[in-house]
Amino acid sequence: MPLVTLAEVLQEADAKGYAVGAFNCNNMEIVQAIIGAAEAEGAPVIIQASQGAIKYAGLQYITSLVRTAAAGTRVPVVLHLDHGTDFEQVLRCLRAGFTSVMIDGSKYPLEENIALTRQVVEIAHAIGASVEGELGRIGGTEDHVSVSEREATMTVPEEAARFVAETGVDALAVAIGTAHGRYKGKPQLDFERLAAIDGLINTPIVLHGSSGVPDEDIRRAVALGVRKINIDTDIRIVFVEAMRRALADNPEEIDPRKVLGPARDAATSVIRHKMRVFGSAGRLHNSIPG
Ligand code: 13P
Repeated sequence: MPLVTLAEVLQEADAKGYAVGAFNCNNMEIVQAIIGAAEAEGAPVIIQASQGAIKYAGLQYITSLVRTAAAGTRVPVVLHLDHGTDFEQVLRCLRAGFTSVMIDGSKYPLEENIALTRQVVEIAHAIGASVEGELGRIGGTEDHVSVSEREATMTVPEEAARFVAETGVDALAVAIGTAHGRYKGKPQLDFERLAAIDGLINTPIVLHGSSGVPDEDIRRAVALGVRKINIDTDIRIVFVEAMRRALADNPEEIDPRKVLGPARDAATSVIRHKMRVFGSAGRLHNSIPG
């Protein structure tokens, strides 16, 4: 079926109380792993590309790969720009056929973030695409910050209410203690803050930095209103580990398919597991008609 928007899949998820996985891709094998997992689990899915992934693979390659994947399946698929920080890049993605974009204005003061995000919402909505905004700062796991510094970067619930009202975003990424990359210890999520945000807004909430977050914490976050869950690092880890194993087992191997095939299979398994934890598995028959 043709690509669908983020608003469509998240509306359905919100009505039924589950979250949709948003998996980062940067090559054909990862796109195939995401779609293969979605088909095997009967799950709606968001395939997202960061600006870095677009730089690596090329905008047309990414768009064509995901369009091809979506066209051959009955699973609802969203093509989403992850962490768009550049207004022009956001426009290029919309023009190429992305059905959703994230505009990440989180590094700006609130007023500027609202103004930038609203501008993107006006353009995207005019052409039938969705927008995710970010409020609070979701750092990397490598950032060395103290507890009080970390608190200062977290989303303030009242500001979230103002942000969604004034921008009209379709989804809001919040900072509640997760970070991008591989965690050193167990991540500490601020569930009270998440509940407070969910109590003040009707907009679906997005959790970034979800790799390495224990399954029970993910389930708790979904119960508290998280509807889109971003996963990149957990795919990278199993993908590259499988490549390393294949090369170690057969140091003379020269066929890329013998190295990338097992990596694709490993990624499919991890994505299938995530879909079951998020509650999106088995939702295909209740989903948007094709
Ligand atoms: P991870 O690094 O935890 O996979 O997070 C990915 C992400 O949030 C992309 O926006």
